[in-house]
Amino acid sequence: MTTKSVTQRAIAYRVTCRDCSRLTTFLDDVKQKYPSYFCKPVPSFGVVKPKFLIVGLAPGLHGANRTGRPFTGDDAGELLFRTIHKFGFADRVPSNPLDDSVKLIGCRITNAVKCLPPQNKPNTSEIRVCNQYLRSELAGTAPQSVILALGGIAHSAVLMAAGLKPSAIKFAHGARHFLAGDRVLFDSYHCSRYNINTRRLTESMFHDVFQAICADLNSMPAHQAITNRVSI
Ligand code: URA
Repeated sequence: MTTKSVTQRAIAYRVTCRDCSRLTTFLDDVKQKYPSYFCKPVPSFGVVKPKFLIVGLAPGLHGANRTGRPFTGDDAGELLFRTIHKFGFADRVPSNPLDDSVKLIGCRITNAVKCLPPQNKPNTSEIRVCNQYLRSELAGTAPQSVILALGGIAHSAVLMAAGLKPSAIKFAHGARHFLAGDRVLFDSYHCSRYNINTRRLTESMFHDVFQAICADLNSMPAHQAITNRVSI
């Protein structure tokens, strides 16, 4: 399949979505305060039929909600982009938050919830409403793909999108779970500034998860594996 035909596939996303009243009211308030911020549902970023889908929680106030790209413009994003570049899933580390020349390789980044939630905490109904988009993202992954859930909420949202009860499989940092359709779910603590500062997640712990993911992807038949990976 050529890149062109792959990019024509539609994944559900509505920049005008206002399905969650608490979130849209909050976004409208934030927009008043910071008129230059994106303040809309943040679209996913990366290749359209990824082998590797990274699922975060929700846009951060001064990160993705400002720039309009997941994990862009805050500390969580710096660690994530540094790591995906190290492991060959991005062609560069963005030089600044608005550097839109960075290209992901075989990889896509999305969030369990597309809108900035108050206190960074989406409620259960918002996670459920937004799951329509995550379901579409999951359906858009390549066969035998790997999904990385950053934190417990992303983990539960992935399970929900896969048609499982959010509690069907327990979240555990570094764990590897099997999903239907030959998909594998890895869990990691979220790469948030809080988790880094408290050392719940260190850069080396994060690298270990990525190393396991690369081992998984490399164990696929050669024509399906992601190429261009740097050695670690
Ligand atoms: N930025 C995102 O887009 N998602 C997160 O989970 C955190 C920061």
